[in-house]
Amino acid sequence: MQTAQPLKGFECATEARSMQPVHAYEPDDPAPPKPEPIRDPDDVRSMRVLIADDAPFNVALLSRLLADWGFDDVRSTTDSSDVESLVESYRPDIIMLDLQMPAPDGFELTHRLRARETDTPVPILMLTADTTIETRRRALALGVSDFLSKPFDHEEVCLRASNLLRTRQLELRLAEQNAELEAFATRRTVALEEARIDMLRHLARVAEHRDDDTQQHNGRVARSAAALGEILGLAPDALELLQYAAELHDIGKVAIPDSILLKPGKLTPEEFDVMKTHTTAGAAMLADSASPHLQMAATIALSHHERWDGNGYPHGLSGRAIPVEARIVMVADVFDALTHERPYKDAMDVPDAITLMRDQTGSFFDPWVMAGFEHLDHEQAARG
Ligand SMILES: [Fe+2]
Ligand SMILES: [Fe+2]
Repeated sequence: MQTAQPLKGFECATEARSMQPVHAYEPDDPAPPKPEPIRDPDDVRSMRVLIADDAPFNVALLSRLLADWGFDDVRSTTDSSDVESLVESYRPDIIMLDLQMPAPDGFELTHRLRARETDTPVPILMLTADTTIETRRRALALGVSDFLSKPFDHEEVCLRASNLLRTRQLELRLAEQNAELEAFATRRTVALEEARIDMLRHLARVAEHRDDDTQQHNGRVARSAAALGEILGLAPDALELLQYAAELHDIGKVAIPDSILLKPGKLTPEEFDVMKTHTTAGAAMLADSASPHLQMAATIALSHHERWDGNGYPHGLSGRAIPVEARIVMVADVFDALTHERPYKDAMDVPDAITLMRDQTGSFFDPWVMAGFEHLDHEQAARG
């Protein structure tokens, strides 16, 4: 019959005791230096062990066996009602749990411990004198990992505990690697997302460059929309999304021919129809993204020319049917367009622009957004 081999980094007591010193010191020799215990990082003896048994004799016996084998982080209790709080505070790597105890017994405790576990399950080594198949089946169904029959066979205690701890060690490492991989994937996704938004922002600047030499319009609209959103009480997360997304509101202008976009005079109805398509073109460019930034950008690109009274474009939405982010960007966009020069018009003074916009409350603009607009720092918004 083959003898069971000890696990790596772990020697059971019988083998450790059989080792002989390599050098016998003479009485005159200086005292030999005390060797520092060097532990293999895989040594399961540095893992935490919790013993719970209502019989003090069993607790003392197991504690002594574990100490003999070199386990140096062992705790125990003879009170089963302490087990849950000990697991919480001590976070053992293995629980040696007696089955027959005053309530809660080993079954009940296994059930409770498994029910609250959220990460890698802690192995439970059940200590029992009851070796019937029914007991074992019930315990296994509740989540017990292995059994130790009373009276204990010392070698078996050692081997079963070390097997479970080794598995625990591997599971913890796997969980750690998974967490690292997840963090890496998240960092990569964020980086890709930022690169994508950055690319789209540059594309929006290409469109902007054609009708605004200074290329400041998109940035100013984004900052004013965020300032307006803050006045209106939007959450910080929503404000950050709004600022990113608002910058892309006119991205669809890349699809508008120069002859229309840069026309110095008034557009003909046909030309205006083409101009209107910058909303749908922009939304199509930003569509089908899993990114919340680009989803909001698509919504804003599509709806930033919808009017509160339903006379806007492209879909003639009215009132609250227009997404709130688009209603906010519309106010910021019109204010910026009025107060800055364009190929087809001069810049308007800030007070005149405010008066003109107030007159359009309830027709062009959402009255709630305009109430917030009253509190905006208009000079700052116009300067950007
Ligand atoms: Fe626009
Ligand atoms: Fe705009």
